[in-house]
Amino acid sequence: MLKLGGGLPRILCGVSSSTYSLRVLVGVTGGIAAYKAAEVVRGLVRAGAEVSVAMTPAAARFVAPLTFAALTGRRVRLDLLPEGTSTEGLDLYPHLEPATRADVFLVCPATADAIAKLAAGIADDAVTASALALPCHCSRWLAPAMHPAMWSSPVVRANVERLETAGWRRIGPESGAMACGAEGEGRMAEPDRIIADVLAGCFDLAGRRFVILSGPTREPVDAVRYLSNASSGRMGREIALEAARRGARVLLISGPVEPALLPRHPAIELHSVTTAREMLAAARAAPPSDVIVFAAAVADAAPARPARGKLSRDRLGRVLRLIPTPDIAASLPPRPGEYRIGFALESGDGRARAARKLAAKHFDLIVLNGPESIGADAAWFACAEAGPKLQWTEWGRITKLECARHIVDWAARRLGGGRTATETP
Ligand code: C5P
Repeated sequence: MLKLGGGLPRILCGVSSSTYSLRVLVGVTGGIAAYKAAEVVRGLVRAGAEVSVAMTPAAARFVAPLTFAALTGRRVRLDLLPEGTSTEGLDLYPHLEPATRADVFLVCPATADAIAKLAAGIADDAVTASALALPCHCSRWLAPAMHPAMWSSPVVRANVERLETAGWRRIGPESGAMACGAEGEGRMAEPDRIIADVLAGCFDLAGRRFVILSGPTREPVDAVRYLSNASSGRMGREIALEAARRGARVLLISGPVEPALLPRHPAIELHSVTTAREMLAAARAAPPSDVIVFAAAVADAAPARPARGKLSRDRLGRVLRLIPTPDIAASLPPRPGEYRIGFALESGDGRARAARKLAAKHFDLIVLNGPESIGADAAWFACAEAGPKLQWTEWGRITKLECARHIVDWAARRLGGGRTATETP
């Protein structure tokens, strides 16, 4: 069981809670179990999370919003259309704030009605409207609570299944005595279990270390020119952020990219490099990790002798002699216990070429994409794991964030779900 009250971010990420908190939005809907949501909120706050609460009007008839305001120290979102014309702060947008900043969204209790609305995309209260405004990376959780007859209704089950297919995770319900005297499956899970499941689920990579090579490299031709490519560093950035949000410590070794595309997260240490040689040296010096991701688009060749000054146009063609850059992945021997993930960017059906790279560079997983991927937000991706019989899984056309999630999910599965959250990294 997860121990609470120890300052969650410090335990899990090795960073001070003044610089990072998990942002949790709890949506309370209208069932008698709403009183237990207060315990859940209290536990999450004590664990170090930054907790906000949104309520439906029905929930506010079971528990006063003031209870949650006092527990969180934050205004509770209740009315979608607040009275008055206040322009103070972000009160005008209760469906966007804090939803758009949430790392975790937990509907607790989730009534049959709320589940149906969430499954259908209805947004007529602060909870269901928030659900539609969550960022892609936010993990979504349900703690259903209802009468056993309602819970076993095919419509409710179909709605729950729809949400689970869309990536929602469910905690409970449990079997036992209901407030109305009925017995059966439908009781909301106990607050301790909800808190532990959410935190352990969000931090499944606690204590793990990732090294991520990202972005392009630049190989100087002379004082003003260089050889490079159009890599934006987005793929490495998304993998770094996804791993860090899930509790891993990340060393990001990045070639030159737009500063705005560099990830900002206290669990991500950035090491900026320029050339392939520098990237190799930084990777060699990196401490042992659980996962190393070769997401960099390393320039294939470098000028043999970069000129000190600026070469004139006519001399450029005559003196420019190219030599291959070091193959970083091939130069770093596999380390025991470290999973190696590589990329292959190929024109046409590159499966055979990617398969050769998987073997030659000792990758455990290779992710294949096409040239349209470079610098883009979304692209077609497929992957294959090392093994006696290579099998490709098509992820199809997805965003780089979604691709990062697949990659990090794969790593988390291989690592066995990370260490428990009570272990010090
Ligand atoms: O360029 P290539 O298709 O061989 O890249 C396959 C994999 O090897 C990628 O994961 C890439 O980051 C890595 N690589 C490398 N050093 C190079 C070239 C590629 O680590 N010089």
